Amino acid sequence: MSHTFQTEDWDQYTMDYPQPHRELEPLAREIAVVDDALAALVDAGILPHGNYDHEKMLAHRRAVAELFEIPWTAISPRMQRLLYAINAVAQPVNMLAAGVFCGNTFFSNAGAAAGPGACYRAENLIGIEIKPEEAARAERNVRRIDPTGVARVVAADAVDYVAAFDAPIHLLYLDADGDAARGKGIYYDILRAAWNRMPDGAIVLAHNSVNCAERLAHYLDFVRDGENFRASVNIIFDGEGLEVSAK
Ligand SMILES: C[S@@+](CC[C@H](N)C(=O)[O-])C[C@H]1O[C@@H](n2cnc3c(N)ncnc32)[C@H](O)[C@@H]1O
Repeated sequence: MSHTFQTEDWDQYTMDYPQPHRELEPLAREIAVVDDALAALVDAGILPHGNYDHEKMLAHRRAVAELFEIPWTAISPRMQRLLYAINAVAQPVNMLAAGVFCGNTFFSNAGAAAGPGACYRAENLIGIEIKPEEAARAERNVRRIDPTGVARVVAADAVDYVAAFDAPIHLLYLDADGDAARGKGIYYDILRAAWNRMPDGAIVLAHNSVNCAERLAHYLDFVRDGENFRASVNIIFDGEGLEVSAK
């Protein structure tokens, strides 16, 4: 079953890419919007509840702002909060994130189980980045915030890496922009490579469901087909969007 959650202000809530930590709205408004998005995911049967620790989320945000080198990011404060909350509620034992650039997008997910926002124990939180220099920077950022090593970044092609991953994948986050031929269409290839290791109930998160919808058409058709996924919700509360799908 496919659904849409959309706020009235989604196209006015605009991320300033070179200013990752700029406040775009009062905190109470951000929390209310994300609560509504979580309620839509609960209604669709994707999450069991929408409760998460707000203080830990803010501890996570502060640590990222203090410790990460982020040249730019498209992850808005609403999106950072939603990614953290989905992971805090779903508590994936193994979480893989594809196309993580400097690591901000990866740690928005991983921060629910590593660093000062941690609220559960995971076994593997792995960011995958194809450009070695970006993977190295992301790994440096992550090492500053997670001394345990449970969260880590590898330099690899996400299609190959997930295909070879030898354990269940409970949450897969997609943000890779592929090559000239595929662009973000590579999400479909990464998902198909992971498919056999995704148990029932596994969650897939796809960033850019709004501004890259055309390039993602094949991917979105697949996750919105009830034969493949139990439910899928397009969260439209900023210019990028997030498609949240449950197997
Ligand atoms: C545009 S960035 C994502 C940025 C993120 N949305 C943010 O706001 O921080 C996409 C990343 O995917 C990486 N990438 C592209 N193809 C990939 C692949 N096949 N496997 C892993 N990473 C890939 C690129 O090198 C790039 O760093």
